[in-house]
Amino acid sequence: MSREMVVRIGLLGFGTIGSSVYRLIEKEHDNILDGTGVDLQVVKVLEQDSRKIPQDAAPGVFTADFSEIADDPSIDIVVEVIGGTDWAYTFLDEAMRKGKNVVTANKQLLASKGRALFDLARDLRRHLRFEASVAGAIPIIKVMRESMIAAELHTVYGIVNGTTNYILTRMYNGEGDYPEILAKAQELGYAEAEPTADVGGGDAAAKMAILGSIAFHSRVTLSDVAYEGIQDVSQEDVRYAKDLGFVVKLIGAARLVDGRVSVRVYPALLPQEHPLAAISGSHNAVFLQGESIGEIMLMGPGAGGVPTATAVVSDIVSIANTKDVGFLQSCSCYRSLDFYPADEMESAFFIKVNVEDRSGVLAQIAAVFGTHGVSVASLIQKGQGDEAELVLITHPTKEKNFFAAIEQVRRLPSCKNEPMTLRVL
Ligand code: HSE
Repeated sequence: MSREMVVRIGLLGFGTIGSSVYRLIEKEHDNILDGTGVDLQVVKVLEQDSRKIPQDAAPGVFTADFSEIADDPSIDIVVEVIGGTDWAYTFLDEAMRKGKNVVTANKQLLASKGRALFDLARDLRRHLRFEASVAGAIPIIKVMRESMIAAELHTVYGIVNGTTNYILTRMYNGEGDYPEILAKAQELGYAEAEPTADVGGGDAAAKMAILGSIAFHSRVTLSDVAYEGIQDVSQEDVRYAKDLGFVVKLIGAARLVDGRVSVRVYPALLPQEHPLAAISGSHNAVFLQGESIGEIMLMGPGAGGVPTATAVVSDIVSIANTKDVGFLQSCSCYRSLDFYPADEMESAFFIKVNVEDRSGVLAQIAAVFGTHGVSVASLIQKGQGDEAELVLITHPTKEKNFFAAIEQVRRLPSCKNEPMTLRVL
């Protein structure tokens, strides 16, 4: 390289991701310098917890005072990896106002308060980069914003939560039911001690809000995403789905339907031959469909310190190599599209329900479905007598019609439990 450019970094947070960014920059420093001419230097690290400060840290690098970073005019880029939506927002806002470009891995922040930060970045002509906020090491933001610029994306399906994919994979392999696999995952460190954001679908919803915004160039915030988790999915559901040729996955689905946006997260049955069905364990994958591309899928590690750090470092080097902020500076939401009502969406469904095993019961259920225009594609009866369990798959139908039919089925005297329903992709 003919010219070297020193890039001074202020790192906010020294947890799993922050410490990995720090170490990865140390490790890759010379390669990045040789390859790009960018001389990366982490000059300040904000960390309140003194126990996290490494023994070998140079004096004066670690600080508990954000103003030492914000007010240091020699710092070019501030990297936020502290998480949360309060301090992280304040720090990024102030950093941009004080002349710094910023990188964040914080999906909850962008999905809830992204508009104000992106607007500020645009007004001040700062870079606000966020590759690490979705799917860890998978370069999905770069691919969607740059490589897909002419692709006219209309559908993004994602397996964007590793914890739930790990749990569902083990259930599919017959290794236990949801509570025991979750407990085991927590013991091994694959699931958080407080797992609600992951198993309840909120983590995936924030990521899908970001992907939906990029795909359709129209702002999607977390509150626009209807989401469900996997807490009610049993090993039996997964086994019945498997018997019928399906895999159960927590799916993020962002779609453009008749010019309107729909972004949702739910556990769903996928045909075993669908490319996403093969994504096992804690891996993530994003499956894109567009007018000009047909289908593209990216898969890889969606979490973990070092994989996520690779995405952070790529953003830093990209900022350093981009002279003007250009179209990559912040948000690509130049449209303002309406949302498609969830109950107007069409889906096929899996239903599992316990019924009395006597003549006429099936006819009653079929009649209810018929009244609501729900057509049954396949049906299996498991067991007999009081234990009779019906497992049905419907053809695609309007969701509001389907749920009206289910409401009526659950009120039939012959229906003996709460029907379990899952969408079929
Ligand atoms: N907890 C997330 C997951 C990773 O399980 O995929 C961070 O978003």
